[in-house]
Amino acid sequence: MSDESSQVTAAYSGRDDMYPPPDDFRARAHVGSEAEYEAMYQRSIEDPEGFWGEHASRIDWFEPYDTVKDVSYEPGNVHIQWYEGGVTNACYNAIDRHVENGKADQTAIIFEPNDPNTEEPEHITYSDLQERVAKFANILKSHGVEKGDRVTIYLPMIPEAAYAMLACARIGAPHSVVFAGFSPDALADRIQDCESHYLITADEGKRGTKRVPLKDNADKALEQCPDVTHTLVVQNTGGDIDWDDDRDVWYHEALETVDADCPCEPMDAEDPLFILYTSGSTGKPKGVLHTTGGYLVYTSMTHEYVFDLHDDDVFWCTADVGWITGHSYMVYGPLINGGTQVFFEGTPTYPDASRLWKVVDKHDVSIFYTAPTAIRALMRQGKEFVESTDRSSLRLLGTVGEPINPEAWRWYYNVVGNGECPIIDTWWQTETGGIMLTGLPGAVPQKPGSAAKPFFGIEPEVLDGAGNELEGACEGILVINDSWPGQMRTVYRNHERFQNTYFSQYAGKYYTGDGCRRDEDGYYWITGRVDDVLNVSGHRIGTAELESALVAHDSVAEAAVVGYPHEVKGQGIYAYVTLIKTVDPSNELRDELVQYVRDQIGPIATPDHIQFSASLPKTRSGKIMRRIIRKVASQEFDDLGDTSTLADPEVVEELIEKRKSVD
Ligand code: WT7
Repeated sequence: MSDESSQVTAAYSGRDDMYPPPDDFRARAHVGSEAEYEAMYQRSIEDPEGFWGEHASRIDWFEPYDTVKDVSYEPGNVHIQWYEGGVTNACYNAIDRHVENGKADQTAIIFEPNDPNTEEPEHITYSDLQERVAKFANILKSHGVEKGDRVTIYLPMIPEAAYAMLACARIGAPHSVVFAGFSPDALADRIQDCESHYLITADEGKRGTKRVPLKDNADKALEQCPDVTHTLVVQNTGGDIDWDDDRDVWYHEALETVDADCPCEPMDAEDPLFILYTSGSTGKPKGVLHTTGGYLVYTSMTHEYVFDLHDDDVFWCTADVGWITGHSYMVYGPLINGGTQVFFEGTPTYPDASRLWKVVDKHDVSIFYTAPTAIRALMRQGKEFVESTDRSSLRLLGTVGEPINPEAWRWYYNVVGNGECPIIDTWWQTETGGIMLTGLPGAVPQKPGSAAKPFFGIEPEVLDGAGNELEGACEGILVINDSWPGQMRTVYRNHERFQNTYFSQYAGKYYTGDGCRRDEDGYYWITGRVDDVLNVSGHRIGTAELESALVAHDSVAEAAVVGYPHEVKGQGIYAYVTLIKTVDPSNELRDELVQYVRDQIGPIATPDHIQFSASLPKTRSGKIMRRIIRKVASQEFDDLGDTSTLADPEVVEELIEKRKSVD
């Protein structure tokens, strides 16, 4: 990795104060002491096959597997296989087996709709879920969807999103969920990449008082996707939409034509379960492919241990099904464990900033899992919104998606949790399938801002830039030695890209793209991405994607995008734009470019700042010095490092002057 792309942002290292688990929490926890965690961890590392063999029995297999693990990280021959020979089905494990085992009438999903003043929550039992998913699956089949066909899902956070995913799993059709905040172009790219012929969407999504025009977006996307033969449309708002009789089908009408009898397709352990697109440092988003057996074992096991799940818990993960957190900890992990969980269509600030805590009270939520960006946003609204609610049902809090600054951690702990609930900081990635680093809440004392310790079977290592393993307390690049069952298997139809992205940097290691520090107690502190990937409000966006969106505009000659510290979003998007000679900078053009990027990618990619600059600092060989523009965007003017290789050092002075005039 070159100096140009290294971006070890300042760690939220915080103070090393410790928050041990409360005694009552520890007393009933699955893992209730550090010694117990250590012993189980050691066993998992010393005898991975024995360990993962034992824990495979947490899911039901139609046919037993032959080998626990067959993995190679060898360049050119990377393959990752778990539980080969085993036959199972994700939907069977998530629903049918619970119905068969006495949980038919237990609530699987509590749906909390967008507007508490006009809409009622819905309790969906495991038997309701079975019926709805089986019917959904029969609709797909009646439209010709077969095992192996890719189905694209572009839905808001309504229960039909879970039905759709599970219906695909039931018949063995890998799903590709596209976050409902993505634009028509982004949706079209993803449909084309996985050659999906089937799209499931809704008329509109609801976000507070806003409506998201999903069907309109889908119509625009499908202008570029002639191979899509069917669009199944869920009626969510009843809003006006265009209709294509040859292609569009109402879900509620199709339901009238099918019965609830649909067997679960037997799937090999390594058959694909889903594709989920995520941004990298180069090129277009990658189709991360997850398979069946290992993913089910890993997500359900991490969900049980990391959240210390018990039968009486109500679990609420506030993510969206469009991200991996929604796949692993809203759909597969919790349902495989037969739990009860909340699905929420609304936003944290509608009708007001007490919304999340009112939902906690309404449904007696005991485990609450969210992102630091949400905590920071709510913190700014004031603690009155929290304190006006009860929250006594809560017993565990979690965070995911980005480093949490100790100030937000303490607010979460003291204000939301009343100083009574442990907080688990969970580090993982779309690629890892499930949680990799965290402190098990009944066993490991927490340090604000640290993702603590590895989960069972996970062997993190910290390397220096040259690839040497660092020992003890250190700071460097985070890699993972060896495999775990939830790991992604390939980039969809691009195994070479998979090998190059994750296994070519350091021989025999999985490269995470993150920097980290390990302290003297063996705790891990994630310092942020070391590649050209931004983390904006916990969402991953490649700078290359943003740059290509900008340069596609007629007036733009060159663009360079970097991240900078942002109080609420964690990282903000800072774009340097050089215009073509015949166009002058203006505020109108700036607004137009912001809109242009939103149209191409989606609102999550909205640039926070666009700085017009006549030129950018480059090396003599013409390469943009990203390290410098990153420091300028972050206002670290005194710390620019070596500028001696610049072709034209004056450019930097000009950038700094302009940066000072932007707030
Ligand atoms: C990147 C992965 C895993 C679900 C959400 C994001 C960052 C994730 C943490 C954490 C510090 C974190 C990393 C990682 N990240 N969790 N607890 N502390 N950083 O999934 O979109 O695949 O992004 O998010 O940089 O590489 P993703």
